[in-house]
Amino acid sequence: MNLEKLFRKFSSDKFTHQYHQIYHSYLSNFRLKKLNILEIGVADGSSLKAWSEYFKNSKIIGIDIKQINLKKKKLNKKNIYFHCGSQTNKSFLDELKRKYIKFDIIIDDGSHFPKDVVFTFKELFSSLDTNGLYFVEDTQTSYNHFFGGNAFDLKYANTHVNYFKNLVDTLNYKEIPNPFYIKGKFDGLIKSVSFYNNMIVVKKGINDIESNLVLNNSYENKRYLMKTSRNKNSEFKYFIKYKIIFKIYTFILFLLNLFKKTILLRF
Ligand SMILES: C[S@@+](CC[C@H](N)C(=O)[O-])C[C@H]1O[C@@H](n2cnc3c(N)ncnc32)[C@H](O)[C@@H]1O
Repeated sequence: MNLEKLFRKFSSDKFTHQYHQIYHSYLSNFRLKKLNILEIGVADGSSLKAWSEYFKNSKIIGIDIKQINLKKKKLNKKNIYFHCGSQTNKSFLDELKRKYIKFDIIIDDGSHFPKDVVFTFKELFSSLDTNGLYFVEDTQTSYNHFFGGNAFDLKYANTHVNYFKNLVDTLNYKEIPNPFYIKGKFDGLIKSVSFYNNMIVVKKGINDIESNLVLNNSYENKRYLMKTSRNKNSEFKYFIKYKIIFKIYTFILFLLNLFKKTILLRF
């Protein structure tokens, strides 16, 4: 049975949200694999039942802040595991990481509070397999005041949609010609971040492609290397130009930006 039918069969709201199309595009190739799949938020267990049938060879691990009676919810299947705890409880998540070592797929369908979603992502990212997938559902709460979202300040609001938008810089960290750039926690570890209606998908993976313009977060370094490899006789001239004059120029740009940021109070 395909995901659409399974979500319908178990009355999961993943069908009403049309998430089956997105899940199908990412997961259909892994159907027969032996994976560890973690879903945050179990409720009546509709999605766990669907995953349990879809991924017959995988462990389906569900967590929920509320205790769930597995027998009553008909979740007492041999590939379903349940743990009661909060996605914002670090020691609970650490225990989970110790128990399962790694997860191939993580789905956050828990509290949907922006700060909880970001906290959980930061905590669980290290336990996601090198080529793992992280799904965040119901990201509409980023715009909803009652969830701590913000409908009026779309750019600077402290929401999970903005948090994941900012990960785009992590994808391009080698392209940033700023010698003062401080390497981010996830730089080089994420292959893609995709946005859909109410859903975000992060694909983990090694991302160490060298820039054609920038070396060690400085375009002067790259230019210096290119020029000197072409013309060895002018090494001194290039040294003065790229290692001294251009670096001073970059430093002035940095100071101007700092000044601009301070004046506009946008730290
Ligand atoms: C939308 S329901 C989950 C639905 C389920 N994934 C499905 O598709 O059938 C959200 C669940 O998250 C749980 N939840 C809320 N806050 C949580 C938290 N901080 N940690 C873990 N679970 C939480 C709620 O108890 C609720 O059961």
